[in-house]
Amino acid sequence: MFSLIYRSKAAKGLPNEEIHDLMRNASRFNAAHGITGCLVYHRHNFIHLLEGEETLVRKLFGRISKDERHGEIVLLNLEENKFRLFSQFSTIYNNFDDVSDQIRHKKMLFHQIFHGSEIVKSPGSSKLTLWAHVNKLLKKDTKLSFG
Ligand SMILES: Cc1cc2nc3c(=O)[nH]c(=O)nc-3n(C[C@H](O)[C@H](O)[C@H](O)COP(=O)(O)O)c2cc1C
Repeated sequence: MFSLIYRSKAAKGLPNEEIHDLMRNASRFNAAHGITGCLVYHRHNFIHLLEGEETLVRKLFGRISKDERHGEIVLLNLEENKFRLFSQFSTIYNNFDDVSDQIRHKKMLFHQIFHGSEIVKSPGSSKLTLWAHVNKLLKKDTKLSFG
């Protein structure tokens, strides 16, 4: 099992509905190809973890990299691991721009990364990388940071 994490910036003026559409299609593709993961969106920034068979994940990342709906893509982590962080989600989507849901989503994400997933049992850099970047992103704009 291979995992990849990147961050990127949404294209200027990208509407929320476009992100929802994108996620609906992405979930369908990912579910059909055994790809799981988590996409966090906050104030025009994406942080995306993809996990699955290495060739498929790399190919998908190649497509995502060319997508004009975002840019400034930075690869944060590549890892081979026995476990998935988000085994039950084809894409769990956290839109942290929705203020009323921010604390709830953040707690859910923290719980999933550190308590709710198989990867807790194994050492690995993806959970720490994912959490560190999500936390940093939220710290920039909110006072909700913890962990
Ligand atoms: C931030 C972001 C994340 C994306 N994540 C996925 C994904 O997880 N799975 C997926 O199939 N497409 C994802 N896409 C869409 C792909 O970039 C691409 O549009 C889609 O795979 C269709 O590819 P095609 O237009 O080359 O057929 C994402 C796009 C963006 C901007």
